[in-house]
Amino acid sequence: MRKIEIKTTFLAYDTDQELPESERRLLLEAKKRLNIAYAPYSKFQVSAAVLLANDEIVASTNYENASYPISVCAEHSALIAAANRFPGVPPLAVAITVKAHDKEVGQPALPCGSCRQVIMETQMKNGHPIKIILQGETGEVYVFEKGEEILPLAFNGSFL
Ligand code: THU
Repeated sequence: MRKIEIKTTFLAYDTDQELPESERRLLLEAKKRLNIAYAPYSKFQVSAAVLLANDEIVASTNYENASYPISVCAEHSALIAAANRFPGVPPLAVAITVKAHDKEVGQPALPCGSCRQVIMETQMKNGHPIKIILQGETGEVYVFEKGEEILPLAFNGSFL
């Protein structure tokens, strides 16, 4: 028997003011679009902005449905939009921010498992790590250097 330990690492900045300029700009792009998010059921708006290797930014927001499971997450939608708008151009980073209707979210919301899996697939498809930048409306910012840091032991095509 072997005991296997997995370690993960991320950076925590006290505020977005401490972020490198390009990361701060990407987060701002996500924040600008928060109000577009269609979230009448959860009233939890999520916005994601993807920075691509050609310097373009593609952003999207969550889009809910009265049939709840059909709802689409912001980062899932943004990564697919980016792949369609700029085929073959690797995403370098995704900034994700959130807003709730009844309270100020003062800490980063971590992406759901499905979205982590989509990030991993996108990395593998393009052969490039994706940095993940997270902030609530205010407060600390978390930066994961690559998908593996937020989803260790991911399922992938090699198992098929
Ligand atoms: N949501 C996202 O957009 N991304 C995530 O990673 C987690 C959850 C959305 C889905 C739903 O519209 C709302 O947030 C509440 O779960």
